Amino acid sequence: MRAFSSFILLASIVPTVLSVKTQDFKTCSQAGFCRRGRALATRASESATSWKSPYSIDPNTVFIAPNQASFTASVKSSLYPAISFGLDVRVHDDGVVRVRMDEVNGLGKRYDEAASWALIAEPKISSSIQWKVGKKDVRAIYGKGVEVVIEFEPLKVTLLKNGQEEIVLNGRGLLHMEHFRKKEEPKLAVEAEVPEEGLNADDAQKVVKLENPRAWFEGESEDAYWEESFSSWTDTKPKGPQSLFIDVTFPNHGHVYGIPQHASTLDLRTTTGEDPYYSDPYRLYNADTFEYLADSTMSLYGSIPLMHAHSTDSTVGVFNAIGSETWVDISHPTPKSTETYWISESGILDIFLMPGPTPKDVFAQYSSLTGTQALPADWAIGYHQCRWNYISSEDIRTVQKKFDEADMPVDVFWLDIEYAEDHKYFIWDKKNFPDPVDMINDVQDTSRKMVIIIDPHLKRVSSYPVYQEAVERNVLVKQKDGTSEYEGWCWSGSSAWVDFFNPASWDWWKTLFKTHSLGDGKFSWVESTENVYIWNDMNEPAIFNGPEISMPRDNIHYGGWEHRDVHNINGMLFSNLTSQAVMERSTPYKRPFVLTRSFYAGSQRFGAMWTGDNLGTWEHMAVGIKMVLANSIAGFAFSGSDVGGFFGNPEPEMLVRWYHVGAFSPFFRAHAHIDTKRREPFLLDEPYKSIVKDILRLRYSMLPIWYTAFRESSVTGLPVVRPHYVVFPKDEGGFSIDDQFFVGGSGILVKPVTEKGVTEASVYIPEDEVYYDYFSQHAYRSAAKGKNITVPAALHQLPLLIRGGSILPTRERPRRSSTLMKQDPFTLRVALDKTGFNARGELYLDDGTTYSHQEGQFVWKEFKSEKQSKNVIKISSHDLGSEKPTEAVDGVALTTYDGGNAFAKSISSVRVEKLVVLGVASKPKGVKLGGKELEWEYTPGVGAQESKKEGIASVLVIKDPKVAITTDWEISIQL
Ligand SMILES: *[C@@H]1O[C@H](CO)[C@@H](O)[C@H](O)[C@H]1NC(C)=O
Ligand SMILES: *[C@@H]1O[C@H](CO)[C@@H](O)[C@H](O)[C@H]1NC(C)=O
Repeated sequence: MRAFSSFILLASIVPTVLSVKTQDFKTCSQAGFCRRGRALATRASESATSWKSPYSIDPNTVFIAPNQASFTASVKSSLYPAISFGLDVRVHDDGVVRVRMDEVNGLGKRYDEAASWALIAEPKISSSIQWKVGKKDVRAIYGKGVEVVIEFEPLKVTLLKNGQEEIVLNGRGLLHMEHFRKKEEPKLAVEAEVPEEGLNADDAQKVVKLENPRAWFEGESEDAYWEESFSSWTDTKPKGPQSLFIDVTFPNHGHVYGIPQHASTLDLRTTTGEDPYYSDPYRLYNADTFEYLADSTMSLYGSIPLMHAHSTDSTVGVFNAIGSETWVDISHPTPKSTETYWISESGILDIFLMPGPTPKDVFAQYSSLTGTQALPADWAIGYHQCRWNYISSEDIRTVQKKFDEADMPVDVFWLDIEYAEDHKYFIWDKKNFPDPVDMINDVQDTSRKMVIIIDPHLKRVSSYPVYQEAVERNVLVKQKDGTSEYEGWCWSGSSAWVDFFNPASWDWWKTLFKTHSLGDGKFSWVESTENVYIWNDMNEPAIFNGPEISMPRDNIHYGGWEHRDVHNINGMLFSNLTSQAVMERSTPYKRPFVLTRSFYAGSQRFGAMWTGDNLGTWEHMAVGIKMVLANSIAGFAFSGSDVGGFFGNPEPEMLVRWYHVGAFSPFFRAHAHIDTKRREPFLLDEPYKSIVKDILRLRYSMLPIWYTAFRESSVTGLPVVRPHYVVFPKDEGGFSIDDQFFVGGSGILVKPVTEKGVTEASVYIPEDEVYYDYFSQHAYRSAAKGKNITVPAALHQLPLLIRGGSILPTRERPRRSSTLMKQDPFTLRVALDKTGFNARGELYLDDGTTYSHQEGQFVWKEFKSEKQSKNVIKISSHDLGSEKPTEAVDGVALTTYDGGNAFAKSISSVRVEKLVVLGVASKPKGVKLGGKELEWEYTPGVGAQESKKEGIASVLVIKDPKVAITTDWEISIQL
């Protein structure tokens, strides 16, 4: 949750207008370095052909390491011959190219640790690269026609594939690394701008150029080099200018995606060039942008500087490992090419070029750098009920009871900040929560969990042990003098912030979450249990009286780094340490659940995110889907937006539609502002209440599909929800679609309705295949080039389709929570493809809470339908990856296992209770399992193979075949 306006509200002033205070946040023209960056690009485009980057490689310094591992060289700018930069280019084992450049022996040191927080390990450098040093360039050819070329003058780095340019760095000559310099004494004003007698305007300009020969590149004036103000705040910039600009061009890719988080389309829009859609670049500066706009390039709470560039024949990626504020301009000089320009406040150049060539490859390449989505506990993908605030233990008990009375499943109840006395997190407000452990245990007794908020601001009172211990350890963020504790205002009033960049804070932070006493007067959370999981909010950090509601950029972190250097990384360290704390408090370790608002590249390793303080409007509902997709392709798969919208009172129709959106988000939570009316789903009137109950049950029935998708994501880096271009990379018709998407590799295609008064919806089908309505079993047809179909979408309906050729495992017994479903039987929906025979699907199961799956304790089945002979369909189940059990690699899940493991045995009585086969061509003559006739029922309808026919598909229900989910079996359908 959160918002400054609500802070004011606590002082009992009711906010009147619901819209972001745009004046609280900078535009590019209000940020000195962004102004400089854009001005440089403008000068370049105005001088067009005569523009040349001043940066070049000194050929005498080219050095290839003896093992051919990397290429290094010295780089100079012709404008500042005395300043040196070091360039380092290396190719990783998987073909990713890393390009680094830093100032060498300068007056200061640039921040060079961003990648060390984002990366899971130092990448392995390929040993099979052969660098060829020429007179004008150095090049290496590797892999399948991939080549990297580093040109000397001007400096330019190009990744090519089969001779075609894929990614070009500094192709437009905008690279600029502002070196450290001394502030010069102010000069007497030069009046050269006034043309002297006998000088025409051109001559006068030449005079100016003589005065400042670098003006063509750096501009006439030192714009905000040494200090700048915004609103009432002054940033002192003791280190002077140190920004970094780099142009990244994709000459053969017309679409770019990524760089979350923005409330915008998935396919990124133009911000420059002719007729740009947005006037400001996409901004990456983690901020508490409460009540944000639903269509804007403004910064939001998290930043992942990862971009995909896509065309029908190739996908490539760029990861720019930078932790400071960054703005990204985008334009399309032609519909099939893209220019991007990254303007950062500080840091070194550290860019990873991912050669693809498919989206799947880029996901693998990016996750080998920053890791995959952590596999969540199974209950964490159930439904979460939150509100600011459940006001007492009794409130929690009552809400839980109401869910049970309404027969609505829910897994988690949440507590926002009001549980904590004076907002001192960990410390219960005993007036309203007199019996916290009893309350937690009451929730646990119904097989549910609690999530409780822990924010990073610590109330500065000596009676608060957490603050006191932080002071004693000297682990709080410092003011610009580097020694005094920084004090700001947040929920807890006068507050201080733990500096998680300080290693001394790490082990200490973990001790706070222990549920037993540590003795020696040390604080630990004895008034909690292992059934409590954590919500990290406000970790941008949000500071009510700080510039842009955050921390002053000249504050000092561990190692003397300024806050500006690490700002976007800050929130990730908080959720990293909290997630380790939650995991390590149990023996053996249990999977943690930590929700974070702020995030950076790599945050996917530590839990889930949500899209922050959205509004209860249709626009926000719609953009939430796009934001989840953008996060998903940037590695953060476990994401969602608040169901219902944080602010406002959504009407019942909107709330119902929002439950559809939530039920098809990886993270599914309803939340509401303290000012809103209560809106738990059991409070709805009919028919809304029953519709929402059905939606919740639908989510629960599909949990095996979601869990299987999460597991795949945790192994391969592929997202849990997938936009069209990821699934159908060659289908141009899908490249800009971001209002419908696929769930994992399951074949589920969903398009939640996000408009009022809708009764039907248009869904884009990308291929010549049969798609079945999940509920009505209606078979729809498309065309080879894709087609829009119209499906019913009244309030009780959801456009939810099964791609022909899929097999979906579901659990259809309604239960109160996911934990109670573990021994429930499965239904298999077999949606035959247009051949009338084929389909496949997967199911992954493990104990859902521990790490025993990393030791091979899991079940992973493949279901297959195929043509056995002309008149026989064979449906079978067998183990995937059970051939040869191997060791887990780097803690990443095993992909092979022993089918007879203890977990598999623990669910050996779980059976398949039903198969529903869609599109069987004709009434079967018989359905058999190992020679034994099974009980079945056939409802005639359209066959999958009837390529021109639409209508309700034929449905064959095979009743209780009495097969266990863990065993292998074969069922034959005789036509
Ligand atoms: C963050 O998490 C990773 C594991 O993904 C760990 O190796 C690293 O040390 C952590 N960072 C900190 C600051 O503890
Ligand atoms: C499908 O509908 C969308 C939105 O109206 C449209 O832009 C697109 O061109 C249509 N596609 C086809 C193949 O008709």
